[in-house]
Amino acid sequence: MAEDIQGLPGVVTALQKGGVTKTSLGLNVADRIAAQDNEVVMIDLDHDCHLTSLLLNDETEEKVLNDDDSHVGKAMFGDVDPEDLLIETEFGIHLLPSTNIMGEVVDRMKNTTYGVNKLRNEVIAPLYEKGYDYFLIDPPGGEGQMLDAAFVAVQRTIIPITPEAGTVNGLARLLERTVSPLRDEGNIPIEIVAITPNRMQETISRDSSEQQIARDLNESFREHLPDYAKVDLEVFETIDELGERLTEIPKPGLRERKSINDAFKNGLPVAQYDQECDQIEHFDTLAELVIESCEAEQEQEEVATHG
Ligand SMILES: Nc1ncnc2c1ncn2[C@@H]1O[C@H](COP(=O)(O)OP(=O)(O)OP(=O)(O)O)[C@@H](O)[C@H]1O
Ligand SMILES: [Mg+2]
Repeated sequence: MAEDIQGLPGVVTALQKGGVTKTSLGLNVADRIAAQDNEVVMIDLDHDCHLTSLLLNDETEEKVLNDDDSHVGKAMFGDVDPEDLLIETEFGIHLLPSTNIMGEVVDRMKNTTYGVNKLRNEVIAPLYEKGYDYFLIDPPGGEGQMLDAAFVAVQRTIIPITPEAGTVNGLARLLERTVSPLRDEGNIPIEIVAITPNRMQETISRDSSEQQIARDLNESFREHLPDYAKVDLEVFETIDELGERLTEIPKPGLRERKSINDAFKNGLPVAQYDQECDQIEHFDTLAELVIESCEAEQEQEEVATHG
């Protein structure tokens, strides 16, 4: 597939399940990376074009999504300069929009030798060379070549887990069917920058799915949890011992907040909508983890190149 191809600075928010906050998390992390004086590009690869629709006004959206001559597919196959596709949002992030013909783009990628490398080599690498610093990718919901292409390009992921049924299964699917094959067969060293709970409710009662998630993640994926999501494992033992009497455990983030939801509906990261929101610091933590991971990789590369 891709031989020793280096990842570029950025991250994919991924999970094989719909509605688990991939897009909104990506937007908020992008905003916090940009807040540190970085040029950030958000790339919408989802055929549902949700991010593109949210960030653009109706008129621009209509024009962009139906433009057959300049879309990400054209940039992937060398027909347009990817920089010409960027649209700057009012809060300073550059959007590389999706297209209504994403299906055709995927087909062309499948029919092209090393098509899965095109997003990296023809879209993101040229933008990086022009001075854009970080690339946040909103992937299509399902697995397949476009998701692979996103991973090949930035080789890093943040995985959101929400309390609805099935998200932990989605995590298992992502790891088994995408992350592991890319690592083992594609030689792409995908790094899990963070697995983060999101939309966690205020009260975590004994039998709630919040508690189950906190427990599963802290038991099985602790090394990938940001500090705000860590719960001391002894707490779970206490819950088991005390049985029904303990109805609450310490509450890990990210938490459900109306302002995050309202901001997203208005096409905004929460920090641009309600500066008082107490979850912004967690998005800052995630931004920091992405930046650290990218900087560490760059240092390694420099050592490798210059000895
Ligand atoms: N912390 C939060 N508190 C409240 N609402 C949230 C929070 N995070 C995300 N949401 C809301 O959750 C909903 C789903 O989020 P989002 O659209 O980002 O998920 P998705 O995984 O991208 O979905 P899809 O599979 O459709 O692409 C959105 O309405 C968003 O506003
Ligand atoms: Mg989405």
